[in-house]
Order: sequence, then C-alpha cells, then structure tokens
Amino acid sequence: MNDFIFHNPDKVYFGKNQISNLPKELLALGKKVLLVYGGGSIKKNGLYDEIVSLAKENGIELFELSGVEPNPRHSTVNKGAAICKKEGIDVVLAAGGGSTIDCAKGVAAAALTDDGDVWPLVSKGVWVTKALPVVAVLTNAATGSEMDAWAVISNMDTNEKIGLGGSALIPRAAFENPEYSFTLPSYQTACGAFDIFNHVLDNYYFAGDATFDLLLDMQEAVMRTVVKWAPVAMKEPSNYEARANLMWASSMALNTVLDGGTVHGCACHLMEHELSAYYDITHGHGLAIVTPRWLTYILDESTAPAIYRFGQKVFAVEEGFEPTEGAKKAIDALSAFCFETLGLQSSLADLNIDSAHFRDMAEHACMGGKISGIKCLDADDLVKIYEMCLNK
Ligand code: NZQ
Ligand code: ZN
Repeated sequence: MNDFIFHNPDKVYFGKNQISNLPKELLALGKKVLLVYGGGSIKKNGLYDEIVSLAKENGIELFELSGVEPNPRHSTVNKGAAICKKEGIDVVLAAGGGSTIDCAKGVAAAALTDDGDVWPLVSKGVWVTKALPVVAVLTNAATGSEMDAWAVISNMDTNEKIGLGGSALIPRAAFENPEYSFTLPSYQTACGAFDIFNHVLDNYYFAGDATFDLLLDMQEAVMRTVVKWAPVAMKEPSNYEARANLMWASSMALNTVLDGGTVHGCACHLMEHELSAYYDITHGHGLAIVTPRWLTYILDESTAPAIYRFGQKVFAVEEGFEPTEGAKKAIDALSAFCFETLGLQSSLADLNIDSAHFRDMAEHACMGGKISGIKCLDADDLVKIYEMCLNK
C-alpha cells in the first residue's frame, strides 16, 4: 500500500433544490461570468432559463460561449478565451456534460495565457496551476470532469485528443441535480455509464497494486452501481434514484477518492482517445468496444486472478473455477453488459472504422514508450487489440 495525499477542494451541491446556491458561489468569485454550454440541451430542459434568471436577480453579468461540440475542439476553447480577455471575465460557468465542462476548463486556462491559445498547453502537457475559476452544473453522469483536474481537448486538424491537467482546473463548485439528466437519450446514458465504469476499471482496478482492500471494495461498489442503475435509467429516464446513483458514481470515479496511492493505468482510455481523435466517436462507446478486447489480450496466468475477482465482485460470476476459466467468464459477463444490457454496437466495423490508422493511433498512444498498468503494452500490442475490435 502506497502513501497518498487526498485533497479535492470542489464543493458539491447535490440534489433537487441546490441551484439557488449558484449565485452565492459565483459572486464569491466575481460578477462577470462566461456561461459555456453545448448544442442546446440546456435550453430544452429549462436549465438555461434558470441560470439566466438567477443571474438577473443577483446582478451577475452573463456572457455566453455556446455550441461546444462533443469531443470539444481547441478552436472553440480559444473562442471562449478571447471572450474572457475582451470582457474581463471573472469566472467560467459550465452547464452541460463532460465536453462542456472540459471546454470551460480549457477556456479558464487559456484566458490567462498571453496569446489565449490552449493548444500549446495541451500539446506540451503543461500542468495548469493558474486559471480563471470554474464552476460546473452537470447534466450528464459520465466523465467525472465536474470534480476532477482534467479536461480532454481535441484538435481535429492534427487528429489529436489529449488531456490537459492541473490543480487550477478542479471546479470550485459543482451542482449535481440528477433531474438535469432526465432528458439524456438512452444511447448517451449507456455511453456515460460505461465511461464511469471504465474509469474505475482502467485507472485503478487493474492498475497493479491490489493490496488496499477498502479501496478495492469501494471501486467494486462504484462498478456495481453502474451495472445496477444504468439499465434502469435507460428504461425509465426520469427515475431519480437511478440518475442520482449514476451521477454520484460519475464524481466518485475520478475525484481521486478511489485512487488512494494505486499505480495508475489507462490503456483503454489512451486507445479510445485515438479513436475519437480520428473518427469523432462517442467516448463511452469506444471504451465499451476496446475494454473486453483489452482484457482478453492481457489475460494470462499472472492477470487471471484479478480479472476473475472482478467478475465475481461486479457481475456475480460463480466461485470455484480455476482462475483462467473464471477470468474468461468475467470478460463474457462484461461483454454481455456492454453489448446486450447497454445495447452498444460491439465492433469498430459497426462504426465504419477500418484498420487504416491503427499503426499511427497505436504509436501516438504510446508516445514512443509503453503504456503501463497490469501489463505494459507497446504499439505492436495496441495494433493487435485494435484489430480484435474489428470483429464482433
Ligand atoms: O451539447 P448538448 O446540447 O448539451 O448535448 C449533449 C451532447 O450532444 C448531450 N447531453 C448532455 N446532457 C444532456 C444531453 N442531452 C440531453 N439532456 C441532457 N441532460 O449529450 C451529448 C454528449 O455530451 P458530452 O458532454 O460530449 O458527453 P460526456 O459527458 O460523455 O463528455 C464526453 C467528453 O469528455 C471527455 C471525453 O473524452 C469526451 O470528450 N472526458 C473527460 C474526462 C475528464 N474531464 O476527466 C475524462 C473522460 O475519460 C473523458 O475522456
Ligand atoms: Zn472516460
């Protein structure tokens, strides 16, 4: 068990009647607020009107950056940074899913650079310690961006999608009302749910140091929560209990409470970000296709016990098999969850993706080295895993 520091300064307002606290949180940071949102879902579900009237009632001056794309582009981030510079914005308010919150974080960081360009920060891997404050109103349980230090920004000109991290990017406050996610379509619910699941599995669970029992139990509980509540939310979009469980699971998965000194991996995420960068696919769907193939690829005598434990604890795979057989049953259960329960298409071919860019994607994901984790993987390994993803 490794030493660790836990520090998450984000103040979360969770539940139905919390948005009335938004003006207080914003005004503590300043009066000029840039509202960042996506393609219009917040206008349809009433959140936009709610924010605008709260701002008016409380003397908050609102500016807007709308049209943030799923897989947010660096060019959109830069537009937001330009508004911040021109108008002297005090705080960036994101209202939406992970893409919107990530864009807002990028805006907040770029606004304090000389040229207002986020891409040099992203491409050079700068750890952001200076940014405008960010406040988030979450509408999609998925990425954990509402409580974490990361923003994932895409540059479609160069086919790159890269994480920008920094202590200054953690939102100062997050508003999580499960009702805001009632309008999410079933497909987005499924993709978001698998993203939550994979954050635990990819980042910590199989990352190597499985010696801290409390953390393993907590990680399994988050994954079980997704398995239990995602299908309910898909069938009954307005089921508060289901949406609430998924929303808090989203935050728990990446706010570092499950981290506790574990050795990090993120093979599936690195592989998926390449897929989104080349093909602009939905992040959680890409993860669902990659993850069972990745587990199949890394399965051997050394990894079988951990994979089998995962199957037992998360999918109630029976005890008593020898480890490799038990691990295969765990992977079968995971595949059934992704492609039957969540109903996601199971292969890259289904998404019209062929092998044309696999080598480039694999090389870029490995950045000249290896991806660490329960098994270290090089570019040749990644090409083989991508190839496995072509078949059902
Ligand atoms: O743009 P709008 O109109 O808001 O519609 C969005 C979008 O079309 C819609 N949506 C969101 N909330 C809704 C809703 N529609 C109806 N009702 C609602 N309540 O859903 C679509 C997808 O939204 P998006 O924000 O793209 O989804 P998600 O939250 O899954 O975010 C995905 C992005 O986050 C990155 C992903 O790579 C991807 O770019 N990630 C960010 C991470 C982080 N910051 O730590 C970690 C993750 O691993 C991930 O990489
Ligand atoms: Zn993710």
